This record gives sequence, structure tokens and C-alpha cells, in this order.
Amino acid sequence: MPGTCVIGLQWGDEAKGKLVDILTENHNVVARYQGGANAGHTVVSDGETWKLSLIPSGILRDNVTCVVTGGVVLDPASAIREIDMLESRGVRVTDKLRLSDRAHVVFPWHVIEDGILNGSLSSGESIGTTGRGIGPCYRDKVGRSLAIRLGDLYRSDFRSTFNHIIEVKRRFLEASQPAGSNVIELDGDKIFDQYQGYAERLRDYVGETTNYLLDSVESGKPVLFEGAQGALLDIDHGTFPFVTSSNSSGVGVSSGSGVPGRWITRTIGVLKAYSTRVGGGPLPTEQDNNVGKHLQQRGNEFGTVTQRPRRCGWFDAVATRYSARLSGADELAVMLLDVLAELDEVKICTGYRINGTVVDQFPSQIDDLKNAEPIYEILPGWQEDLTGARNESDLPANAIGYIDRIGELLSRPVTIVSVGPDREQTIFRTDRTKPAPCPPNTQQERATV
Ligand code: GDP
Ligand code: IMO
Ligand code: MG
Repeated sequence: MPGTCVIGLQWGDEAKGKLVDILTENHNVVARYQGGANAGHTVVSDGETWKLSLIPSGILRDNVTCVVTGGVVLDPASAIREIDMLESRGVRVTDKLRLSDRAHVVFPWHVIEDGILNGSLSSGESIGTTGRGIGPCYRDKVGRSLAIRLGDLYRSDFRSTFNHIIEVKRRFLEASQPAGSNVIELDGDKIFDQYQGYAERLRDYVGETTNYLLDSVESGKPVLFEGAQGALLDIDHGTFPFVTSSNSSGVGVSSGSGVPGRWITRTIGVLKAYSTRVGGGPLPTEQDNNVGKHLQQRGNEFGTVTQRPRRCGWFDAVATRYSARLSGADELAVMLLDVLAELDEVKICTGYRINGTVVDQFPSQIDDLKNAEPIYEILPGWQEDLTGARNESDLPANAIGYIDRIGELLSRPVTIVSVGPDREQTIFRTDRTKPAPCPPNTQQERATV
């Protein structure tokens, strides 16, 4: 069983990082296949908190090779900061990290473009991006002529490519900055030298990764695919235009990593026990009231990357049934269940009323989603603190009833339950989901260009 995927089924921040860290105990390789430094994944282990953005959450384990595939847009400064942070805290990164030479590089102009264009939907609404240059970098990738891949930084003709691109970018920025604002100058020599420095620093990590991953799965090594964001932020299948710029649902695993779907033998859909969203776009079950405050405070719902407060609401089974199907989830991990304690009742959205019509399918048009009034099923809440639970038998009956109802509505078993940020605060409901150590990885050969 070589390929396991961990996919967020909501709008991101479902605690994918925690789950990936746990599951890497029985995987040799962890591959991050899309997104970039817009992601913020938190792992808590032995009271220590780790915040990772680009580097897969498997890096905290010794026997795991972490791969950042060509589907990722890579900000080298961000990657270097993360490597430095890990090494300064005693985590070995050398020989454990491989960065794809196919990954597209985020440059300062992408971040500037993100800042200028973020709010400029024709409706006047804002997507509320993370401002990390993700959309503009993916746009250049698809457009090709202004794209720079990690491997390009090492080419002898890189200076002339860079000069051509920065000239076009200067003209583009001049034309797109709002009237009256100061034009942001791009200092070509400075940026070039900076990126040459980054390239040297990252040289030992950069190389081919697609064949490496194919060799791994074909030789039977267990590979874990780590998604960033959540399926409802998928560029093609999410709540467009309030989405990110990559395929963040299960459909992105193969295109981002180069590993065909036939090798993916297990897909775990990760869900919060309620809904959150950071940035713009509809959140049908949003609770702008005491329930929303309860969830935000108990769940400490502030963005890992931008520190923005996350919007909170009840669990939405219409949206997550769609994203579970879209992502091919075989089973579900329900995270942050502890946050729902001390509520008299808990609600699950099981349908929408859109312009007077009741629907149970997630709509494709954003206006329909904006007009969707949730139809709720009400379940009894529980008062007990769940954070000390380690087995299913430690959970109150109402909490078990709640997760089983989620499983029923999504037609998939809930196999993992999380009741706190720490590795230990996890309940495995079947033996299959319990991670067991796998043989040490003997092939951590270093990749060089
Ligand atoms: P990711 O982006 O999907 O990896 O999720 P984030 O790390 O951005 O957000 C999840 C947050 O919830 C982090 O602060 C985690 O430490 C925290 N967390 C994870 N699991 C649990 C849980 O079961 N209960 C609580 N209360 N917090 C959790
Ligand atoms: P993780 O991996 C939550 C959201 C942004 C914005 C939209 C587009 O930690 O779950 P972008 O910068 O990608 O162009 O922003 O997507 N967003 C996330 N929300 N978690 C994330 O990542 C996110 N990455 C992007 O808030 O609404
Ligand atoms: Mg996050």
C-alpha cells in the first residue's frame, strides 16, 4: 500500500499538519504537492509547537524523506527561514529534504502583484489572499513566458532570462498600480543577487523529484501525500473565485506530484468538527454570535500565516459530502472535537434552501452559495472536557453520536478523532488507522542539480 493522502475537506486549517506528523510514523516519504507559503501547518509534540509552511510536516521524524514537488510554488526565502528554524531547534534537515527543480519560484514581484490585485474582483469584493504571491506565481506558470522554475536559477543563461522578465514586470507593475500610489521599484541587481544567494543555499536540496516518487511507490515504499489548504479552496472545484490558485482537493495529488492515482491506496479526508474560513467568500453556516465566539476562542481560531481571525460556524455536511466525494476520501479524521464541549446543542447543516428551493448538493455558482440558507439537524451537546480522552470509551455518548452522524451523512467511517493539538490527543477507532513504525528509510540519497 504505497500511497496515502491527507486532504483537508473544508476551507483549510483542518489540522492536516497534526495528522501528517502522526501518520509519518509509518511512512518513508512525505510529499507536499501543491500550494506554497500560504499554508500554515501546526504540529505539537512533547509540549513543543512547530509551524511549517512549505516543508512537509514529516520533517520532524528522523526516517522520513520530505519532498516538495513541482506542483508547489516555492518562495526560497521562506524555505530557507524554515530550514534555519528547524535546524536551530535541533531537527536535521540535510539529507531529509528534496526540492523539485520543477517547482515555480515566487519572486518579489509576485508578492507586489498579490497586494495590488487581491481586492480587485470586478464585484468589488476581496478574495483576502494571504499576500504570499501564490496566485501571481501560478499565473506566470500557466502563462509560461514569465515563469522561473527552481532549476532555472542554476542555468548559465539565467541572468538574461531574469533581465527580460523583470523588464516586463516593471512595465506591468507601472500599469497596474492604482492611480496616485507610489510606483514600487524593482531593483534588478539586488533581487538577482538575493536569488543567487538563495540558489547557492538551497543547491544541495534541489533536484528531480518525480522519478524519485515514482521509484518509491513502484518499489513498495509507503509515501504520504500532504495536501495544503482544503478541497473547497480548489481552483477548479472550490468556491471560485474565493479559492486558492492550485488544485487543493484530492484531484491535485497526481498533477502536483507526478504520481498516478493508481498508487494512491488510502485517502484520509480531514475535517474540523465545525467550519472555519479565513479570508473572503461565503461560509453558509457562519455564526456571527456567541456560538461563533465560543468556537473561535476555544479553537484559538487565528490564521497561522496571517494571524487573521478565522470565521467560524457549524459543521456543513452539504459542503463536506461534496469535498469528500471529490477527493475520493475513504475515511474521515474529525479534528478539534474538544472545541464543541460546553454547548447545550450542536448543529449540522444537512441541506441548503436556495431561493426557496431545498437542495442537498453543493452549488457550482458562487451566488447560489451566497444565498444558501442552511437547514440544520440539531443534536444534543456535551459538557465534558474531551482533551484528556485517549480512547473512544473516554468520549461521552453525545460526542460519539455527533461524529457517527458526520460519518453517516458523508457515507464514510470516522476512523480518527482528535481532541487537542498534541500527538497524544488522538483516538484511533480502528487498528488499521493506528500508525505502526515502518522500516528505516535507507535511500535518503542527496539530490543535486
Ligand atoms: P493545517 O493548516 O490544516 O495544518 O491546520 P493549522 O495548523 O493551520 O490549524 C489547526 C490548529 O488546530 C493548530 O493550531 C493546531 O495546533 C490545532 N489543533 C489540531 N488538532 C486539534 C484538536 O484536536 N483540538 C484543538 N483544540 N486544537 C487542535
Ligand atoms: P493551510 O494549508 C486557510 C485562503 C486565503 C484566501 C484564499 C486565497 O494552512 O490549510 P492565497 O494566498 O492562497 O491566494 O489565498 O485561500 N488560504 C487558506 N486558508 N488555510 C490555508 O492553508 C490557506 N491558504 C490559503 O485566506 O481566502
Ligand atoms: Mg493552516
